[in-house]
Amino acid sequence: MSTWTQEDYIQAFRFAAQAHLGQTFPGTDLPYLMHLSFVCMEVIAALAVEPQANETLAVQSALLHDVVEDTSVTFEQVADSFGLAVAQGVSALSKDKSLPRAEQMADCLRRIKQQPREIWIVKMADRISNLQAPPSYWNQDKIKRYQTEAESILEALQDASPYLQKRLRHKIDEYGSFIS
Ligand code: NI
Repeated sequence: MSTWTQEDYIQAFRFAAQAHLGQTFPGTDLPYLMHLSFVCMEVIAALAVEPQANETLAVQSALLHDVVEDTSVTFEQVADSFGLAVAQGVSALSKDKSLPRAEQMADCLRRIKQQPREIWIVKMADRISNLQAPPSYWNQDKIKRYQTEAESILEALQDASPYLQKRLRHKIDEYGSFIS
């Protein structure tokens, strides 16, 4: 087992800060970086109770999980700075936007399941973080679909972490309060 270090965190956080520079958290004018720190915080909380084989992979993939999907950063750039395992993890966590929207999550979950458990944990942490109050411009249909999609994430990935399984279950149930 290898534990993550503060240097691993700082390196990935700096890289993400540069890559997402100028992007904001949906529905707010807060920096997008807030999302990445929430996701990584969920991962670190899980690692504290359930150690994983490669914790650097978990922490760095959490901080970098959106750089390929949402910025101009490429797979090769992530691989050069963080190694192949992180680059492959981030790639699996990125939606394939060439697919029809309705198929993107199922495809993403299939690819995540081919990755080490550390990557499954990042996806669970991502959705836990995103099950806060939805942006004001989302309609009821979108909110319901988001909750249903969260159920599919839980079902696909829950074996990776009993701790996050419980936490995601709770967040999905709580999210029901935004559905009328
Ligand atoms: Ni995310």
